Amino acid sequence: MNILILGSGGREHTFAWKIAQSKHCDKLFVAPGNAGTQSIATNFNIGVNDFEAIKELVLAEDIKMVVVGPEDPLVNGIHDFFLKDEDLKDIIVVGPQKEAALLEGSKEFAKEFMSRHNIPTAAYKSFTKETVLEGHKFLQTLNPPYVLKADGLAAGKGVLIISDLEEAREELSNMLVDAKFGEASSKVVIEEFLDGIELSCFVLTDGKNYKILPTAKDYKRIGEGDTGLNTGGMGAISPVPFADEVLMKKIENKIVKPTIDGFQKDNLPYKGFVFIGLIKVGDEPKVIEYNVRMGDPETEAVLPRLKTDLVELFAAFKDQTLNQKTIEIEEQAAVTVVLVSGGYPEAYQKGKEIFGIETVEDSIVFHAGTTTNNGKTVTSGGRVLAITSYGEDYKKALKKSYQNIDKLCFDKMYYRKDLGFDL
Ligand code: AMP
Ligand code: GLY
Repeated sequence: MNILILGSGGREHTFAWKIAQSKHCDKLFVAPGNAGTQSIATNFNIGVNDFEAIKELVLAEDIKMVVVGPEDPLVNGIHDFFLKDEDLKDIIVVGPQKEAALLEGSKEFAKEFMSRHNIPTAAYKSFTKETVLEGHKFLQTLNPPYVLKADGLAAGKGVLIISDLEEAREELSNMLVDAKFGEASSKVVIEEFLDGIELSCFVLTDGKNYKILPTAKDYKRIGEGDTGLNTGGMGAISPVPFADEVLMKKIENKIVKPTIDGFQKDNLPYKGFVFIGLIKVGDEPKVIEYNVRMGDPETEAVLPRLKTDLVELFAAFKDQTLNQKTIEIEEQAAVTVVLVSGGYPEAYQKGKEIFGIETVEDSIVFHAGTTTNNGKTVTSGGRVLAITSYGEDYKKALKKSYQNIDKLCFDKMYYRKDLGFDL
């Protein structure tokens, strides 16, 4: 069948790489894609939220499956758009419907869902402009640091962790009254600070059955030792060494099962990936957040470890038969190291020629922010490439990625050399 992937980052290049290997994939399209997807699929310069243009492409190219990379089109209802259209309704869309995508689109919705289904998470209360004074009082009852979360999508910037009470009160007012994050912070969730180590668990579900994919740990801060500004992600490691059998059983029984059962009980239409951000407090896993898509750059370390044909798993969404599939996972570890443009996550320059990609051996180069210009591959984003390697353990895998990175360059290239430092 012909398949379309929506998005343009490293996650989408990884999907394209994996799906291109499927015996069920005939023609592969990516919209809008990048220089990496262009080498294995056909790119179309269509935005991920331009549903009418996507429809035209799907019908013109006889596409039967659409894999949605980022959260935006899901929160905007792309899956519902397909189901409501006579010509599109039988096409398999990977990603939840709008109502279920609120798990990522609204922190309050996610917290209420967890509380309804007894899923362990931080205690919380939410506030609006009208209740800002109550919010100030609530902050006084908590111990620092204070965690403030804009309710809506804020491009990964909507969470503030503040140690000073006065500053926390100020920021709460900034968010609610002065619309610091626009409409996204018209409601703010204040929650208990959880102290522990983070990991991410990825689940594929047809709405009824589920398969747990490999775990991963990502490195979000720009600076070594997890310092400096938050980024989209500077690298990832899979599996997470401390996610042993005991912890994974707890995650499955206390979090994954009640989440999938919760979709059914609440009639939340969900066919796609659930990305569960977790924090291990003592020996207990607690949920920090749900995302309704795969992580980036986690995908670049997780999908290379999936041996099973991904298209076959997606095809099981149609009649909810994911329980009849088995998944096979590569024993080796996989890691990815992200190369970024100097200045990122603040201002950076684009259009820098990238050298050395063809010299990489024994690693996979996934493109994130790249494009082609006069036959040359040039940078077009903050995160530029993700270099993935396998190894007996994450240290050996990292060594390979770092050896290959020595052969790559573009003006002001930067990457973290300390991935795994905390493990
Ligand atoms: P989120 O956007 O919800 O993933 O939050 C961004 C980051 O803030 C997470 O990856 C955590 O590092 C941190 N964080 C969020 N909520 C909490 C919490 N309740 N306690 C401690 N850290 C948190
Ligand atoms: N790497 C974190 C995310 O994709 O949200």
